[in-house]
Amino acid sequence: MVAAGLLAFSFVTFALGAPLLREPLHVHDARSAAPQGFQASNAPHPDTVLNLRIALKQKDPIGLIDKLYDVSTPGSSNYRKFLSKAEVEQYTSPKDESLAAVTTWLDSHGIKAKPGATNQWLNIEVPVATANAMLDAEFSVFEHQKTGISAIRTLSYSVPASVKPHLDFIYPTTSFPVTAKRAISSVHFGSGAHDNSTAHGRRASVDASCNDAITPACLQALYNIPTTPATESSNTLAVTSIESSSASKADLQSFLGKFRTDMPSGTAFSVQSIDGGQNVEFQASIEGSLDIQYTVGMATNVPTTFFTVGSDNGDDLTGFLDLVNTLIAQDTPPTVFTTSFGFPEALVSPDIATYIKFTRLHSYLHRADCGVDDGEGGDCTTFRPTFPSGCPFVTVVGATQGTSPETAAQLSSGGFSNIFPAPQYQSDAISSYLSTLGSTNAGLFNTSGRAYPDVSASGINYQVTINGTVTPVSGTSASTPVFASVVALLNDRFIAAGKPAMGFLNPFLYSTGKSALNDITEGNNPGCGTNGFPAATGWDPVTGLGTPDFNKLLALSQ
Ligand SMILES: *[C@@H]1O[C@H](CO)[C@@H](O)[C@H](O)[C@H]1NC(C)=O
Ligand SMILES: *[C@@H]1O[C@H](CO)[C@@H](O)[C@H](O)[C@H]1NC(C)=O
Ligand SMILES: *[C@@H]1O[C@H](CO)[C@@H](O)[C@H](O)[C@H]1NC(C)=O
Repeated sequence: MVAAGLLAFSFVTFALGAPLLREPLHVHDARSAAPQGFQASNAPHPDTVLNLRIALKQKDPIGLIDKLYDVSTPGSSNYRKFLSKAEVEQYTSPKDESLAAVTTWLDSHGIKAKPGATNQWLNIEVPVATANAMLDAEFSVFEHQKTGISAIRTLSYSVPASVKPHLDFIYPTTSFPVTAKRAISSVHFGSGAHDNSTAHGRRASVDASCNDAITPACLQALYNIPTTPATESSNTLAVTSIESSSASKADLQSFLGKFRTDMPSGTAFSVQSIDGGQNVEFQASIEGSLDIQYTVGMATNVPTTFFTVGSDNGDDLTGFLDLVNTLIAQDTPPTVFTTSFGFPEALVSPDIATYIKFTRLHSYLHRADCGVDDGEGGDCTTFRPTFPSGCPFVTVVGATQGTSPETAAQLSSGGFSNIFPAPQYQSDAISSYLSTLGSTNAGLFNTSGRAYPDVSASGINYQVTINGTVTPVSGTSASTPVFASVVALLNDRFIAAGKPAMGFLNPFLYSTGKSALNDITEGNNPGCGTNGFPAATGWDPVTGLGTPDFNKLLALSQ
């Protein structure tokens, strides 16, 4: 009997190529419940195929962060000595043994992985029944009550001990669909209210009309942004669009013909598609029009690419991940990357948030909107931060209004992350702000978190051409492309002089760079039934360190 049993056992083993007795599984990630709004409806058919992505453990993610600070901090002997893609991959690639451990495990379940977006990723297609068994999971159909979005997810998954140290996470198992938020706060059709009340203190060169209507000329005067065309074709500015937000070349031409008569009206932008995204010329959106007109129309002659993310991805957060991976995979990524879309941080699982920390060194500018709330609606018992504003490697831009004086715009978002701790470059700025703040808003925000925004720029009543009509638009969606354009023009000057581009800006901005910014000290960002945070002298979580001065930044960042 024993012999027969052994024989049968080895036969089965041989046939399946794996031992029958599997290693015990250990929980890799779990959540106590689905995010608010999602409810489990029914079990999916066991044969339904799931597309899962496996993120392998990177060789040395901490080493890469050390290196990032080393090349980004003024005074370091490696300042702005950026790594090549191959050098970055020495930190981010998995170890051979990690790839082997995960591949062996997958093989034992008869699964063949395909290469993913970068060498850190593997893609697998696996039926629900197999996924449930190999991951000790319970994949269910979850439906969102309000939006009707449905997705197959699990509340927990496990992996064998021999795989655990080699696997970062499996996506999107416990990560639920998240919809992007745009940073447009208002669009007025018709003329805005006129307020000349504080006109006496206006900066000398800024036209009075700029208090009501922001044009490229207003921003050039406010921030000393040059009109001289950039010369360096290798210096590209990336504008990103999620949620099929299109920009029209005809509207851009009409905008330039009206507001930048010194530029060739045929100045255009290129388009790169991700996940089936399309730039539909005749379906111009407010966001796409604003973002393109205030990059192409500000960063004079800097080559600009519009990355349009489509819907072949499951949800906007996955689209964002695909966008990030596309940029990471480029041999020569854009030197500046601006996006006006974001997500409520509470809905983004920490593993994916941590992954999207940016493993290539370029300036990434992100908008911050909605005061101290994430705009998700429902009860707001504590301030709700947004993602990726809380990421320490992103430069987050808040909004100001007016020119005389320039004050915080109420829509300017500010806050403290619940995922990312405050980085060292920011700790002095935060502690001096918190000591002036006293007990205001105590208990409503996480004092140990990474705080934002870092900087700001004008954000109210931008003149934008949409479907041939000039329309005033407000939001940090306006501020971010302008700050990105300033950085792109600075990079052009540096590259022309044989110097490197600026890269990750924050360690510079919080040290030598801060005196190149106009400190904004008035205004606040209400939300969650409070007045939000007040602006103050120095850094504050409404306007950050302040608005740019091109000439001072050029002088200080040499
Ligand atoms: C405000 O300034 C505009 C010129 O920009 C002028 O036409 C208008 O009369 C002024 N309004 C007030 C109330 O002073
Ligand atoms: C512009 O016009 C197109 C075609 O009529 C329409 O689909 C689009 O929504 C319009 N854009 C805005 C922002 O109104
Ligand atoms: C506060 O932020 C830290 C990161 O700095 C995080 O570890 C902690 O969980 C957060 N607290 C809450 C209540 O979210």
